[in-house]
Amino acid sequence: MQSVQLALPDRDLSLATLLAERATSSGEAALLDPRALLPGGAAWEVEIGFGKGRYLLASAAARPKDRFLGIEIAGEYYRLARDRARRRGLGNLLLARADAIYLLAALLPRGLARRVHVYFPDPWPKTRHHKRRLFDPETLDLLLGLLAADGELFFATDHLAYGELVEAILASHPGLDVTRWQGPWPDGARTNYEAKYLVEGRPIRRLVVRLRPGAEPVHPAGLVGLAVGAPDGELVLRGASDSPTDE
Ligand SMILES: C[S@@+](CC[C@H](N)C(=O)[O-])C[C@H]1O[C@@H](n2cnc3c(N)ncnc32)[C@H](O)[C@@H]1O
Repeated sequence: MQSVQLALPDRDLSLATLLAERATSSGEAALLDPRALLPGGAAWEVEIGFGKGRYLLASAAARPKDRFLGIEIAGEYYRLARDRARRRGLGNLLLARADAIYLLAALLPRGLARRVHVYFPDPWPKTRHHKRRLFDPETLDLLLGLLAADGELFFATDHLAYGELVEAILASHPGLDVTRWQGPWPDGARTNYEAKYLVEGRPIRRLVVRLRPGAEPVHPAGLVGLAVGAPDGELVLRGASDSPTDE
């Protein structure tokens, strides 16, 4: 089990404690379901790699009836956002310090979110690091799996080559409508990186992606890449994007 910390509005929680508390009578651990931790609320939004938490803190304050989940791997950013959220008395924001890929793959319920936000994700330019990207075909499936029917994914990057690649991967998905967003978001700079880059005049690629109702979130390229099983009984999980020739 990987290390995951959770910040509820009024207390910290480790994943181990949560799973122990939620263990069923049969001894099986339940998933990490944010709806059980922050019940009620009209809709859930999830931000991955929230940095200093600008978007989540502002949105949670502006829309108290909605619920927000932020996932951030860097402990320093996580603690900064957690402390700000508590000082501001935000009761509708759940923060997780964790590797988002692990949370998406192993713990979070599918179809949770009306909106998912990923702003300025690390592009991981080296081939051997591509599996860490959120927008590889296989990891994209995890991301899209978070979306409710008709849910939306918001993306921005200043890394234009990566933006092209992400747009191509998304556009090749039969269940998605992908739109390039021209100019800043209606609510202005959503994150600290975006605010900085706007001041610098750096070009930014923004995408809004809608999962059509009834569409399967699984990307066909991800399916092709998943060859499971081997003659000797060893389980092999291999992605289409895995490259035998690392740079
Ligand atoms: C370039 S920063 C952008 C921060 C913020 N989104 C913004 O726009 O200001 C990328 C962020 O993603 C976080 N991150 C990278 N990989 C992650 C992962 N696997 N899970 C969760 N967060 C991750 C990093 O710690 C960092 O805060």
